Amino acid sequence: MNTSADGSRRIAIIGSGFAGLCLAIQLKKRGVESFTIFEKAGRIGGTWRDNTYPGACCDVPAFSYCFSFEQKTDWSRKWAPQSEILEYMESCARKYDLARHIRFNTEIAGARWDADENVWRLKTAAGEEVVADVLVSGVGQLNRPSIPKIEGLENFKGVSFHSARWRHDVDLTGRDVAVIGNAASAIQFIPVIAPQVRKLSIFQRSANWMVERGDRAYTDAEKERFTRHRILALAYRWLIYFQHEINWPIFRRVKFFVERTQKMCEQYRRSTLKDPKLQESQLPDYPFGGKRMLISDDYFPALNRENVEVVLGGIDRVTENALVTKDGRTIPADVIVLATGFQSTSFLAPMAINGVGGRSLNDEWNGAARAYLGITVAGFPNLFLMYGPNTNLGHNSIIFMIECQANYILGCLEEMDSRGLASIELSRDVMESFDTRVQRELQRTVWAATGKSWYKTEDGRITNNWSGSTIRYWWESRHADLSLYHQRVRARVTERIARPLETAAHHAAD
Ligand SMILES: Cc1cc2nc3c(=O)[nH]c(=O)nc-3n(C[C@H](O)[C@H](O)[C@H](O)COP(=O)(O)OP(=O)(O)OC[C@H]3O[C@@H](n4cnc5c(N)ncnc54)[C@H](O)[C@@H]3O)c2cc1C
Ligand SMILES: NC(=O)c1ccc[n+]([C@@H]2O[C@H](COP(=O)([O-])OP(=O)(O)OC[C@H]3O[C@@H](n4cnc5c(N)ncnc54)[C@H](OP(=O)(O)O)[C@@H]3O)[C@@H](O)[C@H]2O)c1
Repeated sequence: MNTSADGSRRIAIIGSGFAGLCLAIQLKKRGVESFTIFEKAGRIGGTWRDNTYPGACCDVPAFSYCFSFEQKTDWSRKWAPQSEILEYMESCARKYDLARHIRFNTEIAGARWDADENVWRLKTAAGEEVVADVLVSGVGQLNRPSIPKIEGLENFKGVSFHSARWRHDVDLTGRDVAVIGNAASAIQFIPVIAPQVRKLSIFQRSANWMVERGDRAYTDAEKERFTRHRILALAYRWLIYFQHEINWPIFRRVKFFVERTQKMCEQYRRSTLKDPKLQESQLPDYPFGGKRMLISDDYFPALNRENVEVVLGGIDRVTENALVTKDGRTIPADVIVLATGFQSTSFLAPMAINGVGGRSLNDEWNGAARAYLGITVAGFPNLFLMYGPNTNLGHNSIIFMIECQANYILGCLEEMDSRGLASIELSRDVMESFDTRVQRELQRTVWAATGKSWYKTEDGRITNNWSGSTIRYWWESRHADLSLYHQRVRARVTERIARPLETAAHHAAD
């Protein structure tokens, strides 16, 4: 993308998680300064700012859970803790001088496409209007906690909080703690808090597949070697990438791979859990990979503890000081931790996004989010989504997908610049045929063979996961082919786009 006056499009990026930062850095690397990141919180980091629960760490090895163009070589452990990942993100932001591009504590409430001017008119939650030529959403799939509808929860007199909003001011020492949920978040904090609490009751609705993690700290010598010989770090990253990528056939239900993996999990389950009843309670009723596989060295050992109980049978209601199960048991609790996941299928909600003719993205999707490569949507010109619909993975790092998406967006912007285009809008035929193909392919995956999960809408449509390998995603997204888009040529070029976004924003606010 060129940096001359007529190349400096005003780009609004919503969110400062890995996605927003990735695009911002890539813009910077190309000399583009005319972008602003809007962040509703007071700090960057997204997932890694919000999830500070004890034991939080990545579940793909840290060497592949960082930007390929900013490879960190001195990770403390194979699966790095949350604080180290957040610090990594902050160091990237410092290195590329992103702070001056970020407007913190600025939530975007909505955006409206102005077809006369070929601009997006964004509205902040405070009512300010901001004008941008290009709008990029980096709001993530796992940003808004899901609070279960359980009778009486609102009347609980103890403390209750969601795992993604951990109350560090609440001392759990010697307390009776109830955890609702037993998936990826729960299994990370349960082993840490179990030795501290008096009684820990885990309310499990479904058992999940557990893989032994084999975590360890990197030695100083290893860190030094990776830092001195960057080629080694790169080779290691690719090794991890391919070790994960070869697991894709599991998700495509290739029998040999599924059976081999399930057998390995079986062995681990039986050898780690002492009590046969407990062993049985941890046997999933869906194929491996159908929900997020869990990776932990310390969750099953924590279940063996005297003060930990797995409560089956479902929650009927919550009283002022206890949880009552459907089979009539009353389990007292001082604290309830909701490890109940996120509102994952509503994507850009609650923002009101209105495209061509004022049509809202909610109406367009009608509960079934879809986008070409998870990035562009027919009827919404110059709107790009990162980590959008059908771009989540079960088997590899999301950073890989985010980098592909940034590359695709940059390709679009460069093409727009070179052709003097004001806007591009995905052809509806392209979107429909892409979506039909993805949904057809998804029917052959473990996710289709599994009941409810955060990958699916209530009516069973898989809106979150990509339907193929990440190699194929890279292949399909490597070039921006503008022949798939309706194009509008620029008019009144220099006067409008030379104006930086911030100026427009402040002007509008005046
Ligand atoms: C606990 C946890 C652990 C995870 N571990 C892994 C892992 O190990 N490996 C992996 O590949 N993936 C993991 N994931 C998935 C993870 O979400 C992605 O890897 C990645 O961090 C997503 O980045 P993002 O920028 O797309 O979204 P997010 O990190 O969710 O960032 C979105 C940002 O947008 C901001 N925002 C949202 N709405 C608005 C608005 N209206 N206005 C302004 N700002 C807004 C939010 O405040 C936030 O900062 C994990 C998820 C969770 C919840
Ligand atoms: N790096 C990591 O290791 C890590 C850590 C945390 C999260 N993540 C990512 O974030 C995703 C979300 O993880 P998550 O654990 O926060 O959420 P999740 O996978 O959606 O799990 C939510 C848990 O809460 C249970 N639950 C939800 N509503 C309930 C209700 N009304 N009553 C009883 N139980 C209820 C679910 O049971 P059911 O299974 O029966 O629905 C499940 O056990 C993961 O899949 C992963 O991609 C990664």
